[in-house]
Amino acid sequence: AKKKSVLDFMKMKKNDEKVAWVTAYDFPMASFSEQAGMDMILVGDSLGMVVLGYQGTVPVTMDDCISHCQAVRRGAPNTFVIGDMPFGSYQASDEEAVNNACRFLKEADVDAIKLEGGIRILSKIKAISDAGIVVVGHIGLTPQSSGQLGGFKAQGRDVNSARELIKDAIAIEEAGARMLLLEAVPPELTEFIAKKLEIPVYSIGAGLPCDGQLIICGDMLGMFQAFTPKFVKKYANVAEVVIKAFEEYKEDVKAERFPEDKHVYHIKDSIEDFEKL
Ligand code: KIV
Ligand code: NA
Repeated sequence: AKKKSVLDFMKMKKNDEKVAWVTAYDFPMASFSEQAGMDMILVGDSLGMVVLGYQGTVPVTMDDCISHCQAVRRGAPNTFVIGDMPFGSYQASDEEAVNNACRFLKEADVDAIKLEGGIRILSKIKAISDAGIVVVGHIGLTPQSSGQLGGFKAQGRDVNSARELIKDAIAIEEAGARMLLLEAVPPELTEFIAKKLEIPVYSIGAGLPCDGQLIICGDMLGMFQAFTPKFVKKYANVAEVVIKAFEEYKEDVKAERFPEDKHVYHIKDSIEDFEKL
């Protein structure tokens, strides 16, 4: 299938056609996503937790993100790929934000970048958009600032917090973002924002009434074992499958059941020739 563009995603919103996207961090997962017909892929800085083993996303660097985006692009050449700007790559200044956003496009051939925050990072969203780059906004539970939120906690559950998120959403659209992701907010708020904005509004843990859903591959496949957020549906248990395979292989090796005759390369000359060695 042909790679989708922002125009397709706008059209899908108009036609009430839902967008399905997942995170992917490496070549095989990206390839599986594309083969499954995923509408887009996020190379989230959640890679810090899911594939690098950090406790949070804060330690993830620009180089980490670029390298994983490159692998994902090689695995999914015909899928819309979003690179996630890691903590510290856009906070300091508009200039640094633009330079780092440009790196994602120049070095990893991504289609868009995502960054966390609303009004407090508005000048960055505007500067990157003005540079001609597709920006995806992300508000609600924003893991990079989970310290300020007091942990990985749902947002927008009271009227004041909801009002702030609505203001953020409107400002993000006005600053030039082409999509908005809501994380861990009530569906009632998601519906309000999705109807209010012209750009597509997507959910991760933000309920059904919007333009599509994102899920973290490590969560939905059962690969990430540290914890499972309430909003995750587990579609597979990859950890179980892999551990079982490793155990079977280990037992086969100890008992000399592996390799079998069909797994070896037999000599072509006579055994006598080999014995002269
Ligand atoms: O890094 C990521 O995977 C994300 C999602 C949690 C939205 O930003
Ligand atoms: Na992220």
